[in-house]
Amino acid sequence: MRVLSGIQPTGRPHWGNYFGAITQYIALQDAEQAFYFIANLHALTTVRDKELLAQYTLDSAIDLLALGLDPDQAVLFVQSDVPEVSELCWLLLTGTPMGLLERCHAYKDKKAKGLSSGAGLFTYPVLQAADILAYDSDTVPVGEDQVQHIEVCRDIAGSFNHQFGEVFVLPKSKVLDSSARVPGTDGEKMSKSYDNTLAVFEESKAQKKQIMRIATDSRPMDQPKDPDEDILYQLYSLVASEAEREEMATMYRQGGFGYGDVKKSLAAAAEAFFAEARAQRDDWASRPEDVREILNTGAAFARKKAGEVLRRAQEACGLKGY
Ligand code: ADP
Ligand code: TRP
Repeated sequence: MRVLSGIQPTGRPHWGNYFGAITQYIALQDAEQAFYFIANLHALTTVRDKELLAQYTLDSAIDLLALGLDPDQAVLFVQSDVPEVSELCWLLLTGTPMGLLERCHAYKDKKAKGLSSGAGLFTYPVLQAADILAYDSDTVPVGEDQVQHIEVCRDIAGSFNHQFGEVFVLPKSKVLDSSARVPGTDGEKMSKSYDNTLAVFEESKAQKKQIMRIATDSRPMDQPKDPDEDILYQLYSLVASEAEREEMATMYRQGGFGYGDVKKSLAAAAEAFFAEARAQRDDWASRPEDVREILNTGAAFARKKAGEVLRRAQEACGLKGY
Protein backbone atom coordinates (compact mmCIF):
# COMPACT_ATOMS: atom_id res chain seq x y z
CA MET A 1 0.00 0.00 0.00
CA ARG A 2 1.32 3.44 -0.83
CA VAL A 3 0.50 6.39 1.37
CA LEU A 4 1.04 9.88 0.00
CA SER A 5 0.42 13.35 1.26
CA GLY A 6 1.52 16.87 0.47
CA ILE A 7 2.19 19.77 2.79
CA GLN A 8 2.12 23.33 1.52
CA PRO A 9 5.15 25.41 2.48
CA THR A 10 3.29 28.51 3.52
CA GLY A 11 4.72 29.32 6.94
CA ARG A 12 5.70 27.96 10.31
CA PRO A 13 3.70 24.93 11.48
CA HIS A 14 1.31 25.56 14.36
CA TRP A 15 -0.16 23.17 16.90
CA GLY A 16 -3.20 22.63 14.65
CA ASN A 17 -1.00 21.50 11.78
CA TYR A 18 1.05 19.32 14.08
CA PHE A 19 -1.71 17.53 16.03
CA GLY A 20 -4.26 17.65 13.21
CA ALA A 21 -2.02 16.49 10.40
CA ILE A 22 1.77 16.16 10.60
CA THR A 23 2.01 13.81 13.56
CA GLN A 24 -0.63 11.55 12.01
CA TYR A 25 1.18 11.42 8.64
CA ILE A 26 4.41 10.60 10.32
CA ALA A 27 2.80 7.81 12.33
CA LEU A 28 1.98 6.06 9.04
CA GLN A 29 5.57 5.90 7.85
CA ASP A 30 6.36 2.70 9.75
CA ALA A 31 3.51 0.61 8.44
CA GLU A 32 3.29 1.65 4.81
CA GLN A 33 5.41 2.84 1.95
CA ALA A 34 5.05 6.54 2.50
CA PHE A 35 5.67 9.44 0.11
CA TYR A 36 5.54 12.95 1.58
CA PHE A 37 6.23 16.01 -0.45
CA ILE A 38 6.40 19.74 -0.04
CA ALA A 39 3.76 21.22 -2.31
CA ASN A 40 5.64 24.29 -3.53
CA LEU A 41 3.76 24.41 -6.86
CA HIS A 42 0.52 24.70 -4.95
CA ALA A 43 2.02 27.31 -2.63
CA LEU A 44 2.96 29.39 -5.67
CA THR A 45 -0.74 30.20 -6.03
CA THR A 46 -0.44 32.27 -2.83
CA VAL A 47 3.23 32.89 -1.99
CA ARG A 48 4.49 35.35 -4.61
CA ASP A 49 7.83 36.24 -3.07
CA LYS A 50 10.79 34.37 -4.54
CA GLU A 51 13.02 34.29 -1.45
CA LEU A 52 10.13 33.49 0.85
CA LEU A 53 8.92 30.50 -1.17
CA ALA A 54 12.44 29.05 -1.37
CA GLN A 55 12.94 29.60 2.35
CA TYR A 56 9.57 28.12 3.32
CA THR A 57 10.31 25.07 1.16
CA LEU A 58 13.57 24.24 2.91
CA ASP A 59 12.05 25.15 6.28
CA SER A 60 9.17 22.75 5.76
CA ALA A 61 11.59 19.91 5.08
CA ILE A 62 13.53 20.79 8.22
CA ASP A 63 10.30 20.92 10.24
CA LEU A 64 9.18 17.49 9.06
CA LEU A 65 12.57 15.92 9.77
CA ALA A 66 12.67 17.52 13.21
CA LEU A 67 9.17 16.23 13.96
CA GLY A 68 10.16 12.65 13.27
CA LEU A 69 9.87 12.03 9.55
CA ASP A 70 12.52 9.39 8.96
CA PRO A 71 14.08 9.63 5.49
CA ASP A 72 15.06 5.95 5.69
CA GLN A 73 11.41 4.99 6.08
CA ALA A 74 9.57 7.57 4.01
CA VAL A 75 10.36 9.26 0.71
CA LEU A 76 10.58 13.03 1.23
CA PHE A 77 10.80 15.38 -1.75
CA VAL A 78 9.84 18.73 -3.19
CA GLN A 79 6.89 18.69 -5.61
CA SER A 80 8.55 20.76 -8.34
CA ASP A 81 11.55 18.40 -8.42
CA VAL A 82 9.30 15.86 -10.12
CA PRO A 83 8.38 17.61 -13.40
CA GLU A 84 6.51 14.49 -14.57
CA VAL A 85 3.69 15.59 -12.26
CA SER A 86 3.18 18.86 -14.12
CA GLU A 87 3.12 16.99 -17.41
CA LEU A 88 0.59 14.52 -16.08
CA CYS A 89 -1.45 17.47 -14.84
CA TRP A 90 -1.94 18.63 -18.43
CA LEU A 91 -3.13 15.20 -19.55
CA LEU A 92 -5.67 15.24 -16.74
CA LEU A 93 -6.75 18.81 -17.44
CA THR A 94 -7.81 17.89 -20.96
CA GLY A 95 -10.42 15.54 -19.51
CA THR A 96 -11.58 17.67 -16.57
CA PRO A 97 -15.02 19.32 -16.86
CA MET A 98 -15.10 23.01 -15.87
CA GLY A 99 -18.17 22.31 -13.76
CA LEU A 100 -16.25 19.89 -11.55
CA LEU A 101 -13.70 22.57 -10.69
CA GLU A 102 -16.32 25.29 -10.29
CA ARG A 103 -17.76 23.26 -7.40
CA CYS A 104 -14.44 23.04 -5.54
CA HIS A 105 -14.56 25.05 -2.36
CA ALA A 106 -11.24 26.96 -2.46
CA TYR A 107 -12.24 28.56 -5.76
CA LYS A 108 -15.94 28.81 -4.92
CA ASP A 109 -15.26 30.55 -1.58
CA LYS A 110 -12.96 33.07 -3.17
CA LYS A 111 -15.45 33.79 -5.92
CA ALA A 112 -18.28 34.13 -3.39
CA LYS A 113 -16.24 36.80 -1.61
CA GLY A 114 -16.00 38.67 -4.89
CA LEU A 115 -12.23 38.12 -5.13
CA SER A 116 -10.65 37.38 -8.46
CA SER A 117 -8.82 34.11 -8.79
CA GLY A 118 -6.02 32.90 -11.02
CA ALA A 119 -6.30 29.86 -13.25
CA GLY A 120 -3.81 28.22 -10.87
CA LEU A 121 -6.28 28.31 -7.99
CA PHE A 122 -9.06 27.13 -10.30
CA THR A 123 -7.05 24.13 -11.53
CA TYR A 124 -5.39 23.48 -8.16
CA PRO A 125 -7.35 20.21 -7.58
CA VAL A 126 -6.12 18.81 -10.92
CA LEU A 127 -2.48 19.33 -9.94
CA GLN A 128 -3.34 17.65 -6.66
CA ALA A 129 -4.86 14.74 -8.61
CA ALA A 130 -1.63 14.47 -10.65
CA ASP A 131 0.37 14.41 -7.38
CA ILE A 132 -1.64 11.47 -6.17
CA LEU A 133 -1.96 9.49 -9.41
CA ALA A 134 1.70 9.87 -10.42
CA TYR A 135 2.79 7.45 -7.71
CA ASP A 136 -0.09 4.93 -7.84
CA SER A 137 -0.98 6.09 -4.34
CA ASP A 138 -3.82 4.21 -2.74
CA THR A 139 -4.18 6.03 0.55
CA VAL A 140 -4.10 9.77 1.02
CA PRO A 141 -4.19 10.96 4.63
CA VAL A 142 -5.71 14.44 4.73
CA GLY A 143 -7.72 16.77 6.92
CA GLU A 144 -11.49 17.11 6.33
CA ASP A 145 -10.90 20.20 4.20
CA GLN A 146 -9.09 18.16 1.55
CA VAL A 147 -11.57 15.30 1.14
CA GLN A 148 -13.31 17.04 -1.75
CA HIS A 149 -10.02 17.17 -3.64
CA ILE A 150 -9.54 13.42 -3.28
CA GLU A 151 -13.05 12.87 -4.63
CA VAL A 152 -12.20 15.10 -7.60
CA CYS A 153 -9.06 13.04 -8.13
CA ARG A 154 -11.10 9.84 -8.19
CA ASP A 155 -13.55 11.38 -10.69
CA ILE A 156 -10.80 12.53 -13.02
CA ALA A 157 -8.91 9.23 -12.80
CA GLY A 158 -12.10 7.24 -13.25
CA SER A 159 -13.07 9.04 -16.43
CA PHE A 160 -9.54 8.77 -17.85
CA ASN A 161 -9.59 5.02 -17.15
CA HIS A 162 -13.04 4.77 -18.70
CA GLN A 163 -11.83 6.44 -21.89
CA PHE A 164 -8.35 4.99 -22.22
CA GLY A 165 -8.22 1.78 -20.15
CA GLU A 166 -7.04 1.01 -16.63
CA VAL A 167 -4.17 3.46 -16.27
CA PHE A 168 -4.63 4.95 -12.81
CA VAL A 169 -5.08 3.51 -9.35
CA LEU A 170 -8.09 5.14 -7.68
CA PRO A 171 -6.99 6.49 -4.30
CA LYS A 172 -8.93 6.58 -1.05
CA SER A 173 -8.75 9.40 1.43
CA LYS A 174 -7.95 8.60 5.03
CA VAL A 175 -9.54 11.36 7.01
CA LEU A 176 -7.38 12.31 9.92
CA ASP A 177 -8.80 12.13 13.39
CA SER A 178 -11.13 15.10 13.58
CA SER A 179 -11.12 15.07 17.36
CA ALA A 180 -7.71 16.67 16.83
CA ARG A 181 -9.37 19.97 15.94
CA VAL A 182 -7.08 22.28 17.82
CA PRO A 183 -8.47 25.56 19.19
CA GLY A 184 -6.52 28.76 18.68
CA THR A 185 -5.69 31.30 21.36
CA ASP A 186 -9.08 32.98 20.77
CA GLY A 187 -11.10 29.75 20.96
CA GLU A 188 -11.76 29.63 17.19
CA LYS A 189 -10.13 26.86 15.12
CA MET A 190 -6.39 27.48 15.15
CA SER A 191 -5.44 28.82 11.73
CA LYS A 192 -2.81 31.12 10.33
CA SER A 193 -5.61 33.10 8.67
CA TYR A 194 -7.07 33.95 12.10
CA ASP A 195 -3.80 35.00 13.66
CA ASN A 196 -4.50 32.83 16.70
CA THR A 197 -1.74 30.25 16.39
CA LEU A 198 0.85 28.79 18.71
CA ALA A 199 3.86 27.83 16.62
CA VAL A 200 5.45 24.44 17.22
CA PHE A 201 8.95 25.84 16.91
CA GLU A 202 8.42 28.95 18.99
CA GLU A 203 11.10 30.10 21.34
CA SER A 204 10.00 29.14 24.90
CA LYS A 205 9.81 32.65 26.35
CA ALA A 206 7.76 33.95 23.42
CA GLN A 207 5.44 30.95 23.64
CA LYS A 208 4.92 31.45 27.35
CA LYS A 209 3.98 35.08 26.68
CA GLN A 210 1.43 34.02 24.05
CA ILE A 211 -0.04 31.47 26.42
CA MET A 212 -0.27 33.98 29.29
CA ARG A 213 -2.27 36.27 26.99
CA ILE A 214 -4.98 33.71 26.15
CA ALA A 215 -8.33 35.21 27.10
CA THR A 216 -10.23 33.29 29.80
CA ASP A 217 -13.72 33.65 31.19
CA SER A 218 -14.42 35.71 34.28
CA ARG A 219 -16.31 33.19 36.39
CA PRO A 220 -15.34 33.19 40.09
CA MET A 221 -12.33 31.06 40.95
CA ASP A 222 -14.14 28.80 43.38
CA GLN A 223 -16.77 27.72 40.85
CA PRO A 224 -16.35 24.18 39.39
CA LYS A 225 -15.76 24.19 35.60
CA ASP A 226 -16.16 21.68 32.81
CA PRO A 227 -12.60 21.08 31.56
CA ASP A 228 -13.69 20.00 28.08
CA GLU A 229 -15.23 23.38 27.45
CA ASP A 230 -12.10 25.33 28.23
CA ILE A 231 -9.44 26.23 25.64
CA LEU A 232 -6.61 26.08 28.15
CA TYR A 233 -7.56 22.57 29.16
CA GLN A 234 -7.98 21.46 25.55
CA LEU A 235 -4.51 22.76 24.69
CA TYR A 236 -3.06 21.30 27.87
CA SER A 237 -4.49 17.87 27.01
CA LEU A 238 -2.46 17.83 23.81
CA VAL A 239 0.90 18.33 25.49
CA ALA A 240 0.46 16.87 28.99
CA SER A 241 0.83 13.25 30.08
CA GLU A 242 -2.25 11.17 30.83
CA ALA A 243 -1.71 11.55 34.60
CA GLU A 244 -1.22 15.32 34.37
CA ARG A 245 -4.37 15.60 32.27
CA GLU A 246 -6.42 13.64 34.80
CA GLU A 247 -5.12 15.76 37.63
CA MET A 248 -5.97 18.96 35.80
CA ALA A 249 -9.47 17.73 34.92
CA THR A 250 -10.15 16.92 38.57
CA MET A 251 -9.00 20.38 39.57
CA TYR A 252 -11.40 21.98 37.05
CA ARG A 253 -14.32 19.92 38.33
CA GLN A 254 -13.57 20.88 41.94
CA GLY A 255 -13.10 24.57 41.26
CA GLY A 256 -10.98 26.83 43.44
CA PHE A 257 -8.11 27.36 41.02
CA GLY A 258 -6.80 30.29 39.01
CA TYR A 259 -6.33 30.39 35.24
CA GLY A 260 -2.89 31.93 35.73
CA ASP A 261 -1.63 28.67 37.23
CA VAL A 262 -3.21 26.65 34.43
CA LYS A 263 -1.41 28.84 31.91
CA LYS A 264 1.89 28.30 33.66
CA SER A 265 1.33 24.52 33.65
CA LEU A 266 0.39 24.70 29.96
CA ALA A 267 3.55 26.63 29.09
CA ALA A 268 5.70 24.16 31.04
CA ALA A 269 4.03 21.12 29.48
CA ALA A 270 4.40 22.61 25.98
CA GLU A 271 8.03 23.32 26.58
CA ALA A 272 8.67 19.73 27.68
CA PHE A 273 6.57 18.24 24.89
CA PHE A 274 8.33 20.08 22.07
CA ALA A 275 11.83 20.27 23.60
CA GLU A 276 13.22 17.31 21.65
CA ALA A 277 11.74 18.47 18.34
CA ARG A 278 13.07 22.00 18.89
CA ALA A 279 16.56 20.64 19.56
CA GLN A 280 16.29 18.43 16.47
CA ARG A 281 15.22 21.41 14.43
CA ASP A 282 18.26 23.42 15.47
CA ASP A 283 20.41 20.48 14.50
CA TRP A 284 18.89 20.02 11.02
CA ALA A 285 18.88 23.76 10.41
CA SER A 286 22.62 23.87 11.08
CA ARG A 287 23.24 21.45 8.19
CA PRO A 288 21.01 22.45 5.28
CA GLU A 289 23.23 20.52 2.85
CA ASP A 290 22.17 17.26 4.48
CA VAL A 291 18.54 18.28 4.14
CA ARG A 292 19.01 19.11 0.46
CA GLU A 293 20.62 15.75 -0.08
CA ILE A 294 17.66 13.97 1.49
CA LEU A 295 15.32 15.94 -0.77
CA ASN A 296 17.39 15.12 -3.86
CA THR A 297 17.48 11.43 -3.06
CA GLY A 298 13.73 11.48 -2.43
CA ALA A 299 13.05 13.28 -5.72
CA ALA A 300 15.16 10.82 -7.72
CA PHE A 301 13.19 7.93 -6.25
CA ALA A 302 9.84 9.65 -6.79
CA ARG A 303 10.72 10.59 -10.39
CA LYS A 304 11.34 6.97 -11.27
CA LYS A 305 7.86 5.99 -10.18
CA ALA A 306 6.22 9.08 -11.71
CA GLY A 307 8.05 8.44 -15.00
CA GLU A 308 6.55 4.95 -15.23
CA VAL A 309 3.04 6.18 -14.55
CA LEU A 310 3.36 9.11 -16.95
CA ARG A 311 4.57 6.78 -19.71
CA ARG A 312 1.60 4.48 -19.09
CA ALA A 313 -0.78 7.43 -19.39
CA GLN A 314 0.95 8.81 -22.50
CA GLU A 315 0.80 5.45 -24.24
CA ALA A 316 -2.84 4.99 -23.32
CA CYS A 317 -3.99 8.29 -24.81
CA GLY A 318 -1.95 8.31 -28.03
CA LEU A 319 0.97 10.56 -27.14
CA LYS A 320 3.42 7.75 -27.91
CA GLY A 321 3.63 5.32 -30.78
CA TYR A 322 3.04 7.83 -33.62
P1 ADP B 1 -4.20 27.02 8.21
O1 ADP B 1 -5.67 26.91 8.59
O2 ADP B 1 -3.39 27.54 9.34
O3 ADP B 1 -3.99 27.75 6.91
P2 ADP B 1 -3.61 24.69 6.66
O4 ADP B 1 -4.90 24.74 5.93
O5 ADP B 1 -2.35 25.03 5.94
O6 ADP B 1 -3.72 25.55 8.01
O7 ADP B 1 -3.46 23.26 7.37
C1 ADP B 1 -2.86 22.14 6.82
C2 ADP B 1 -3.49 20.93 7.50
O8 ADP B 1 -3.33 21.03 8.94
C3 ADP B 1 -5.01 20.84 7.29
O9 ADP B 1 -5.31 20.05 6.17
C4 ADP B 1 -5.52 20.19 8.55
O10 ADP B 1 -5.47 18.78 8.38
C5 ADP B 1 -4.51 20.55 9.61
N1 ADP B 1 -5.01 21.62 10.50
C6 ADP B 1 -4.87 22.94 10.34
N2 ADP B 1 -5.40 23.63 11.38
C7 ADP B 1 -5.92 22.69 12.22
C8 ADP B 1 -6.58 22.76 13.49
N3 ADP B 1 -6.81 23.91 14.09
N4 ADP B 1 -6.94 21.61 14.07
C9 ADP B 1 -6.69 20.41 13.46
N5 ADP B 1 -6.06 20.28 12.29
C10 ADP B 1 -5.66 21.40 11.66
N1 TRP C 1 -3.79 20.76 -1.03
C1 TRP C 1 -3.16 20.18 0.12
C2 TRP C 1 -3.28 21.16 1.32
O1 TRP C 1 -3.49 22.32 1.12
C3 TRP C 1 -1.70 19.89 -0.15
C4 TRP C 1 -1.54 18.89 -1.23
C5 TRP C 1 -1.07 19.11 -2.49
C6 TRP C 1 -1.85 17.50 -1.14
N2 TRP C 1 -1.07 17.95 -3.22
C7 TRP C 1 -1.54 16.94 -2.42
C8 TRP C 1 -2.37 16.69 -0.13
C9 TRP C 1 -1.74 15.59 -2.68
C10 TRP C 1 -2.58 15.33 -0.41
C11 TRP C 1 -2.26 14.80 -1.67
O2 TRP C 1 -3.15 20.74 2.46
